[in-house]
Amino acid sequence: MHVDLDSKVALVTGAGRGIGRAIAAHLAASGAAVMINDLDSGPAAETEGAIRQSGGRAAYLAGDVTAPDFAQKLVDAALQSFGGLDIIVNNAGYTWDNVIQKTTDEQFQAMLDIHLVAPFRILRAASAHIRETAKREIAEGRRVMRKVVNITSIAGTDGNPGQAGYSSGKAGVIGLTKTMAKEWGRYNVNVNAVGFGLIETRLTQPLTQAGATIDVQGRQIAVGVQPKMLEALKAVCPLGRAGTPEEAAGAVLFFCSPLSDYVTGEVLICGGGMHF
Ligand SMILES: NC(=O)c1ccc[n+]([C@@H]2O[C@H](COP(=O)([O-])OP(=O)(O)OC[C@H]3O[C@@H](n4cnc5c(N)ncnc54)[C@H](O)[C@@H]3O)[C@@H](O)[C@H]2O)c1
Repeated sequence: MHVDLDSKVALVTGAGRGIGRAIAAHLAASGAAVMINDLDSGPAAETEGAIRQSGGRAAYLAGDVTAPDFAQKLVDAALQSFGGLDIIVNNAGYTWDNVIQKTTDEQFQAMLDIHLVAPFRILRAASAHIRETAKREIAEGRRVMRKVVNITSIAGTDGNPGQAGYSSGKAGVIGLTKTMAKEWGRYNVNVNAVGFGLIETRLTQPLTQAGATIDVQGRQIAVGVQPKMLEALKAVCPLGRAGTPEEAAGAVLFFCSPLSDYVTGEVLICGGGMHF
């Protein structure tokens, strides 16, 4: 099915790898100009390069979405590069797991910062442009729909042992989603969330001694899932397997497209039928 996003401008956080990269690629292939963000400039540049090579429009701004002044810079970069902002996907994220008695204040706060505070700041930074543009369009008698998609998890909807911070951040962003759907409905913005089950990315690769780490303000945090846990999850998943980043991006594309113009404040679970 062809989704037409010609003339739309999208912003995708955490688009250097995994699901965010697949979302950026899908949006660009549908015609949108994409402002890519990632903490790591190398992967962000790779996503931009891949989109440009296949004829799409993209630019990137590397940086940490949890830095207090970064949200406005990112929104301004999209506006300056492409002259508008129609689609925002708050996707950047990572896990920093532990049972509650071993979870530090810093660790819990880091999970709220990346999964809840950063999306809040980005939407607040975009609000002036969105409101002013929508008011003008409405005054001209035009209904132009804009899209926000916040990424959550079945850890947020169902809870997951070892993830007090992650689950809280991912549950919190659902509250943000439902509230912004109500605040921004009058500006013709659909605000929805997509929650993933098990998707094959760096976050869910088998956890080994020499596994992947994410550098958070100089601290190396191991990401990955215990191999036994991965097998157990696949066994209880109705589709019997992990999803691909492309499959994950498909659910997000629905909420970025005109197909979802009359859907707002909802959470779509893309997890092969799995719930915790
Ligand atoms: N993979 C899964 O099974 C799964 C399940 C549920 C939810 N999710 C969510 O999906 C989203 C994407 O995760 P993924 O699986 O593609 O992981 P990933 O590690 O492959 O990609 C996430 C990207 O976000 C970037 N990022 C992390 N912190 C950042 C920051 N502070 N500022 C800017 N960029 C930052 C990383 O550098 C990375 O490139 C996350 O929000 C994650 O919580 C993933």
